[in-house]
Amino acid sequence: MSEIAVVGIGGWGKNLARNYFQIGEANLRYVCDLDEKKLEAALNQYPGVRTTTDFGEMLKDPELDAVVIATTGPTHYRLAKSALLAEKDVYVEKPFVLEVAQAEELIELAESTGRILMVGHLLEYHPVVVELKKMIESGDLGDIYYIYSQRLNLGTVREDENALWNFAPHDISVILYLLGKEPVDISARGQAYLQEGVEDVVFFTLTFPDNSMASIQVSWLDPHKVRKLTIVGSNKMAVFDDLEANEKLKVYDKGAELSSDYDTYAEYIGLRFGDITVPYIKTGEPLRAECMHFLDCIKNRTQPVSDGNDGLRVVRVLDAAQRSLEQNGAPVSLG
Ligand SMILES: NC(=O)c1ccc[n+]([C@@H]2O[C@H](COP(=O)([O-])OP(=O)(O)OC[C@H]3O[C@@H](n4cnc5c(N)ncnc54)[C@H](O)[C@@H]3O)[C@@H](O)[C@H]2O)c1
Repeated sequence: MSEIAVVGIGGWGKNLARNYFQIGEANLRYVCDLDEKKLEAALNQYPGVRTTTDFGEMLKDPELDAVVIATTGPTHYRLAKSALLAEKDVYVEKPFVLEVAQAEELIELAESTGRILMVGHLLEYHPVVVELKKMIESGDLGDIYYIYSQRLNLGTVREDENALWNFAPHDISVILYLLGKEPVDISARGQAYLQEGVEDVVFFTLTFPDNSMASIQVSWLDPHKVRKLTIVGSNKMAVFDDLEANEKLKVYDKGAELSSDYDTYAEYIGLRFGDITVPYIKTGEPLRAECMHFLDCIKNRTQPVSDGNDGLRVVRVLDAAQRSLEQNGAPVSLG
């Protein structure tokens, strides 16, 4: 059984603490937060857990195996580095870190200390995304032309990171995971309406080497709550709507085909309107699957699906998108 500490039990960290408390393969040994009131509440919720405001002191506990970091983005690098130096396995919530060099340093540190480093790219553990990955790899959707993703709502307005860094790690990680390749350039436009210098809405486009592309829209200033990903392939199209209770994935047997035997232009491009199917996918809490995966990697010393390198790829895209944003949408090459 792995001894786990959850650091940061705010809005999201409490979900991680709940899972590690409930999962039989783990013991929630500590919850750590700077806020004493949250620690008091945790004591009632998780009987037997140790609470602390002192992260450094906690790391000295030789019985502690792994640290789950769910504090706000700007603190991730420092906390993850200390935990790796203390030879603990580490899980870091998204956004992994705020700079490419920090991601590279943490990957190297995890390698040299032989520790597991996992990034909280939750959607890579979502059963619908796992199914989509299988469909793409089997060729069911054909060549993937383009993907677009929308993550919108009227929700928590952050002051320490913009909507790009707060929301888009999800969309970027799932798109890179599904396509299995990295973009060559990125172009981003956005606006800060509520606080100077903190973009509330960002639209950005990723171009891939084979001309496939992806477009992502993120906003916390929108009348609609939307969590939707659309994939357009040469054979079929698929839509993943995470707000649907049951029918989260729909596959459209629709497309366009070029004919070599035609008399009129209308015959040259034939449109196909086929069935719409809703594959049965066994649902479960993606966060539980993600926590189970971290525990499995700790036990078997295997690389997580969303390891440090996966985190680095996403930070590279975020960094390029941020630079494009600052240059009014000028494309930024990823080299
Ligand atoms: N995977 C997901 O779907 C998902 C969803 C929401 C948030 N998140 C991520 O989870 C993280 C936390 O987000 P949140 O919404 O819970 O934020 P939050 O502000 O609600 O909570 C952060 C908590 O961390 C504590 N904290 C800050 N610095 C600390 C330190 N040095 N030591 C100990 N505790 C410290 C704060 O007191 C607070 O309780 C962020 O990285 C966010 O991007 C992920």
